[in-house]
Amino acid sequence: MARPLISSTDLRERAKARLPRFAFDYIDGGAGEEDALARSRRAYRETCLRPRVLVNSAEPANLSHRFLNRDWALPFGIAPLGLPGLAWPGADLAMARAAEAAGAPFVTATPGTATLETVRAAAPTRSAFQLYVGAATEITDDLVARAERAGYDTLIVTADVPRAGKRLRDLRNGFGLPLRITPRLAMDLALHPRWSLATWRAGAPHLINFAAYADDGAGAQTLAQLMARQSSGRLDWAVLARIRDRWSGALVLKGVLDPEDAARAVGAGVDAIQVSNHGGRQLDGAPATLDALRAIREALPADVPLAVDGGVRSGEDILKALEAGADFVFLGRPFLYAVAAEGAAGPAALFDMLAAELEAAMAQTGRRSIAGIRRCATD
Ligand SMILES: Cc1cc2nc3c(=O)[nH]c(=O)nc-3n(C[C@H](O)[C@H](O)[C@H](O)COP(=O)(O)O)c2cc1C
Repeated sequence: MARPLISSTDLRERAKARLPRFAFDYIDGGAGEEDALARSRRAYRETCLRPRVLVNSAEPANLSHRFLNRDWALPFGIAPLGLPGLAWPGADLAMARAAEAAGAPFVTATPGTATLETVRAAAPTRSAFQLYVGAATEITDDLVARAERAGYDTLIVTADVPRAGKRLRDLRNGFGLPLRITPRLAMDLALHPRWSLATWRAGAPHLINFAAYADDGAGAQTLAQLMARQSSGRLDWAVLARIRDRWSGALVLKGVLDPEDAARAVGAGVDAIQVSNHGGRQLDGAPATLDALRAIREALPADVPLAVDGGVRSGEDILKALEAGADFVFLGRPFLYAVAAEGAAGPAALFDMLAAELEAAMAQTGRRSIAGIRRCATD
């Protein structure tokens, strides 16, 4: 019988065994020597929690939380993930449905593998849309208009992709879209028959949100061409102001690491900042997001909503991020590992695992509510 999966590390190991190497590396890898990736993890490992004792914890701690004028059952959710269908067919919808059921956010990415409209239908109250600003203003405008028509109330604009990240694992694996079947890839697929068969049955994942814009269908676009369009470096303060004018819902700027940028974004009408280094996939010299979060929290007024992602792997990590000043926490890779490891049931199981870990960590440290965590940390 297979070993039970009791931590996000277990999920990663199982995902590694089940996925072809190129798919696992695409999900797991980072830019350059993967220093930023390691730095973000190390910051969590090196941060301690200081327990307060003799706090009556007979009742479970309250994990519900208010963020961006919405009530959430949990203070954490799923970060935007491009090409999730590589983890397993149907990954987008499995994650969206699990988030809806858990009362937590799922952020559908511009390069998702289910349309933004389909995802919204699967998570009608809990989904947000992540926007990449590409070179073509008409496409950006149309994506924003589609998000509004589909019923999204939160738009997350990603700021940290002015160029495509240099991801050595992808380059070494020759990974691109559409997949080129080389002898090496054929061997990789043959060694992972379950994934290959499931993907063959479902059809290879592609960047379906672009289908409406590609000359001859998004399937015919190479990943390099699409990434070049998305990573145009076009996003600047003027474009952000234009998006703010056109979008009446909540607006989040993701990928901020500098306190002055954070302050300027708030001045430009952004409703929340997401401190992120894109999971270490863009700039190998980027700081650990936990450190950047602390600096930004210190520089901004206490009521500016801050989210953080990057390197969060457990309920204790979530508690550390909340203590460091986050109002909300997002996880990326662990949810893809979960789908790869356990299929459609994986994301719901991971929500349960993280919620149980967070509750236990709060009991161990004498925290009774999410709002109380910040109060304790600043006392
Ligand atoms: C496979 C993969 C694809 C990603 N695609 C996107 C994307 O399309 N848009 C975006 O804003 N961030 C994207 N990210 C970054 C995540 O939103 C998030 O910042 C990061 O994964 C957090 O780090 P973690 O994976 O250590 O939790 C991606 C991350 C991964 C791992």
